[in-house]
Amino acid sequence: MAQERTLSIIKPDAVAKDAIGDIISRFEKGGLSVVAARMMRLTREQAEGFYAEHRERPFFNDLVGFMTSGPVVVQVLEGDNAIAKNRELMGATNPKEAAAGTIRADFASSIDANAVHGSDAPESAEREIHYFFGDAEICARG
Ligand code: PPS
Repeated sequence: MAQERTLSIIKPDAVAKDAIGDIISRFEKGGLSVVAARMMRLTREQAEGFYAEHRERPFFNDLVGFMTSGPVVVQVLEGDNAIAKNRELMGATNPKEAAAGTIRADFASSIDANAVHGSDAPESAEREIHYFFGDAEICARG
């Protein structure tokens, strides 16, 4: 299986619930290692840039408002098929549709306050990882 990296964000709702440790534990138990991490409060400009592909969507302002409402934890996760594995661990975007035992089923309360973000493809992972981290901040394992 391919070793990959993906960008994960623990969103303001999950940080406010003190669920950071539980969520990182799900990643680690699922075979994903944290190779970079930072807690930060996104500026409006940073959130708009990160979600630029959704700029025309009706929920864009709500999404940016929510993502700037409190601190987040941005991380790079590494492992076999990390992009798909992370999305499997997260569950569906809408927590009402998320499979039992997934992060969103257990920690998310709505489609906007949905606990975590994960890159959806290799190209977006590359862009999103380097949106937040320089190569020197990513710690190779092994
Ligand atoms: S897509 O087309 O599959 O990329 O879109 P989707 O994954 O459904 O959603 C992209 C991100 O937008 C958030 N979202 C919303 N925020 C606020 N309100 C509403 N109604 C809403 N619908 C979707 C969703 O949580 C996704 O955030 P990320 O951070 O990418 O998971």
